[in-house]
Amino acid sequence: MLSRQPLKVIEGTQLEGNGSHGQPVAVVTGAGRGIGRALVDVLHARGYLVVAIVRSLSDVSELFSLDPQNIFPVRCDVTESSTESVLREFLERQVERVDLLINNAGFGATCYGIEGLKYQELEDVLAVSCYGPIRCVRACLPLLRKSAHGVVINMSSRFGSLEWVASGVVPHDEATYAYRIGKAALNMFTSCLAVELQGQGIRVLAVDPGKVKTRFGPKDADTEPADAACAIVDLAERNADTGLFVHASGERMPW
Ligand SMILES: NC(=O)c1ccc[n+]([C@@H]2O[C@H](COP(=O)([O-])OP(=O)(O)OC[C@H]3O[C@@H](n4cnc5c(N)ncnc54)[C@H](OP(=O)(O)O)[C@@H]3O)[C@@H](O)[C@H]2O)c1
Repeated sequence: MLSRQPLKVIEGTQLEGNGSHGQPVAVVTGAGRGIGRALVDVLHARGYLVVAIVRSLSDVSELFSLDPQNIFPVRCDVTESSTESVLREFLERQVERVDLLINNAGFGATCYGIEGLKYQELEDVLAVSCYGPIRCVRACLPLLRKSAHGVVINMSSRFGSLEWVASGVVPHDEATYAYRIGKAALNMFTSCLAVELQGQGIRVLAVDPGKVKTRFGPKDADTEPADAACAIVDLAERNADTGLFVHASGERMPW
C-alpha cells in the first residue's frame, strides 16, 4: 500500500547557474524507479534538463548525485493538492520554459472484481492517475506555453481502452476495476486537453508503454524500461500528432 502520509513541501534542489537557456526542459513524475527512472536517463543523455518528481528523500539524493546541473529531483506526491502551486512556483523560479511533461506516476490496485473493489483503492488510483496529471499540467502550463513545441505525455495503459476492455482484447481478470477506471479517466483527460490546447501549439498524447519489466509490470513483460523510455521520448520528439492514444511504438490504440 502507498503511504497516506501527506508530504507537505516540495523539497526541490536548487539549480546552480542559469536555468534552461536553450536547453530543452522535461518534467517527469514517478521518476525514482521503473519507466520513470529510465525516462530520466534517456532525457538526460539527450541533453535535457530534467525535473524529476519523486516521493522519497533517498530518490532525491540518488538523482541529485547523478548530475546536479542537469537533473533536479523534486520531492512531491502528486496526490497532494499543494503539488500544483508548489511545483509551479519551483518551475517558474528554476527554468524558463517546459518542453515536455510526462505524467508517468501510477500504481496497480490489488482488489479484483466488482465485489472486491474497495472505494479507498479506487480513490487512491484516481488520485495518482487522474488528479495528479491534472495538477501537473496546470502547474506546467504557463511554461509549456513558452515552448515552441510543448508536449504532454500521459502514461496510460491498454487497460484504459474502453474498446479493448469491451471487446475482450485485454483479459477481464488481468487488471482491477480501479486501474482500468483510472487509466480510462486519464485518457479522457488527454482527449479534452488535446482539443483545448490544439491552437496553442501544445501536443497531448496518451501512451501505452507496452509490457515493461518493472516492479509493476506483468509476468509476461517483454520490454526493458530503457527501450520503452527511448520509444516514448522518440514519440514526444518526432510524432507530430495530438489527441491520440498510441503504443510506445507509435501504433494507434483505440480509445
Ligand atoms: N510496466 C508496465 O508494463 C506498464 C504497462 C502499462 C502502463 N504502465 C504505466 O507506466 C507508469 C510507470 O509504471 P512502472 O511500470 O514504471 O511502475 P513502477 O516501477 O511501479 O513505478 C511507478 C512510479 O510511480 C510513482 N508513484 C506512485 N504513486 C505516486 C504518487 N502518489 N506520487 C508520486 N509518484 C508516485 C512511484 O513512486 P515510488 O517509487 O515513490 O513508489 C514510482 O516511481 C504507470 O503509470 C503505469 O500504470 C506500466
